[in-house]
Amino acid sequence: MARAYAPYSAFPVGAAITTTSGRIFSGCNVENASYGATTCAERIAVYNAISSGERSFAAIALVARTAQPPVPCGLCLQVINEFASEILIVMANVEGMARICSLKELLPEPFLFSKHI
Ligand code: THU
Repeated sequence: MARAYAPYSAFPVGAAITTTSGRIFSGCNVENASYGATTCAERIAVYNAISSGERSFAAIALVARTAQPPVPCGLCLQVINEFASEILIVMANVEGMARICSLKELLPEPFLFSKHI
């Protein structure tokens, strides 16, 4: 979260994903002047892990300065589902208020290419 590049929203987010082998990869949101090119902290954590050769994940956490624990956006949930449909999602605010859900609870019907061809 401290490394977030969020000059447009002033909403820094931090994320960390754990592999089933115990490694941890972090991410932060990286915004862009064109807004649409912004990438969320969760996707950067996932891509960081994937680009380091990992494919098996146990949990992903995110933290932001929110009143309630922040829920990942739908785009991030879909990306997480690509690699880890059984993953747990830990949501926390900076006060330490936390909530844990399965990905299936937050995204019960992900888009699956195999369902539509
Ligand atoms: N953001 C995240 O990094 N993760 C989320 O789950 C929601 C939103 C970022 C994107 C953007 O940089 C800022 O928060 C405001 O939407």
